[in-house]
Amino acid sequence: MKKIVTLLFVLTLVFTLSACGKDKEPEQTVDPNEPEIRYDEDGNKIIKLKGRPTTTNEVNLDDVKEHSSKEDCWLVVDDRVFDVTEYVDKHPGGEAILKGCGTDATSLFDAKHEDKARDILDEYFLEDLK
Ligand code: HEM
Repeated sequence: MKKIVTLLFVLTLVFTLSACGKDKEPEQTVDPNEPEIRYDEDGNKIIKLKGRPTTTNEVNLDDVKEHSSKEDCWLVVDDRVFDVTEYVDKHPGGEAILKGCGTDATSLFDAKHEDKARDILDEYFLEDLK
């Protein structure tokens, strides 16, 4: 009888312990398509891009081309890369901005804008073009 009680106690314990942690939030997964942006101790921006093993400040035009949609829009102006995804819906010139997504949009941008647009653009600076 004592053995059965001990066995039941052990089984209950094992069951309780295995049930613990089931309510835990699923671990956050990192979207491999999203660039990971962080800062080193000197405040320098470090970007890790899809498929790149190390973190360096390297963004080239091929990287920019991968962000050519309304939902994910990077563009280059004067050899600087901008992620303007958040600005697409606010753009006073409407969907015209989409022509620039994933491209070197320097001439398109210069053709249509005054200094004010450049100030806004600076808010979306990501990295110098490699
Ligand atoms: C590169 C592709 C882009 C194209 C083709 C484009 C085109 C245009 C057009 C056609 C207008 C209307 C101009 C008018 O009504 O006179 C406009 C206005 C404007 N755009 Fe863009 N745009 C682009 C990117 C951007 C970006 C990246 C920004 C800022 C982040 C921006 C900011 C503005 C602002 C603030 C205006 C209001 C007019 C001004 O203050 O210059 N645009 N754009």
